[in-house]
Amino acid sequence: MGKVTAIYFSATGNTEKSLKALAEGAASALGAEGFEGVDVTCEPEPAPREFGPDDFVLFGMPVYAGRLPLAVKDRITGFTGRGTPCIVAVSYGNRHYEDALLELMDIARSQGFEVKGGATLIGRHTYGEIQVTRPDAGDLAACRSFGAQVALRKSEPLALPGNRPYRDGLLRGRFHPLTDESCVECGLCVRSCPMQAIGGDCRTIGEACISCFRCIRNCPVGAKNMDVPAYRDFAVMFSEKLKERRENEFF
Ligand SMILES: Cc1cc2nc3c(=O)[nH]c(=O)nc-3n(C[C@H](O)[C@H](O)[C@H](O)COP(=O)(O)O)c2cc1C
Ligand code: SF4
Ligand code: SF4
Repeated sequence: MGKVTAIYFSATGNTEKSLKALAEGAASALGAEGFEGVDVTCEPEPAPREFGPDDFVLFGMPVYAGRLPLAVKDRITGFTGRGTPCIVAVSYGNRHYEDALLELMDIARSQGFEVKGGATLIGRHTYGEIQVTRPDAGDLAACRSFGAQVALRKSEPLALPGNRPYRDGLLRGRFHPLTDESCVECGLCVRSCPMQAIGGDCRTIGEACISCFRCIRNCPVGAKNMDVPAYRDFAVMFSEKLKERRENEFF
């Protein structure tokens, strides 16, 4: 048995949590000594890597507008397999995942992986107050058990939901965070922006911003915010619209 590797982009941590639970399940079923996590969130050009037929790989990305986030999806194209078994998983904020899982499967297959299973997993939405405690303990337990099940699956044809051509996706975000006077200029947001969109003054946000809100979630003093009426109104409306709980799906 080779290695188990979980490769993910995760701006606010939902994909990371879920993918790691899937990987834990796969590793324990395969008798591997744990797994390696490869986080490409802050890596514009990750080093290419090749996996063999005895390895097991998991790919995870969030859903942006029913697609993979277009500005960052190329971060996984340097990872290639030689018939390497894999799981593809997308994390989404309780609205829908539309074509994102299919797109991730297509990328994995085109890079030499054999996609043995797929999952669409709920995580707290970036905007508003939607499913704020997810993925929860039950979600993660379900991921562990699905990871174990897929790792032991025989090769069989797999169909995943979604349509080709894929729907239009998002290259840039519509909300650019603000910074209030409590900022202590620690530089954390500058270093950890997936798009390197925050200037050295810790305030200026460039056009590359994808509105992932990583800077808002991680600011130690709560200085980064989206406290403007247009966003507040949208967040209230959106939270009401998406309040009904959706469930994870495993394929
Ligand atoms: C720009 C943007 C677009 C999004 N589009 C969708 C969507 O189409 N459907 C959905 O259910 N959630 C959507 N979300 C919510 C994220 O998919 C969800 O919060 C996900 O769990 C984030 O994963 P992460 O924490 O790993 O970054 C969107 C979030 C952002 C920032
Ligand atoms: S993380 Fe917060 S406090 Fe630190 S530089 Fe960014 S906005 Fe300022
Ligand atoms: S500046 Fe934009 S892209 Fe960078 S972390 Fe903040 S919301 Fe995400």
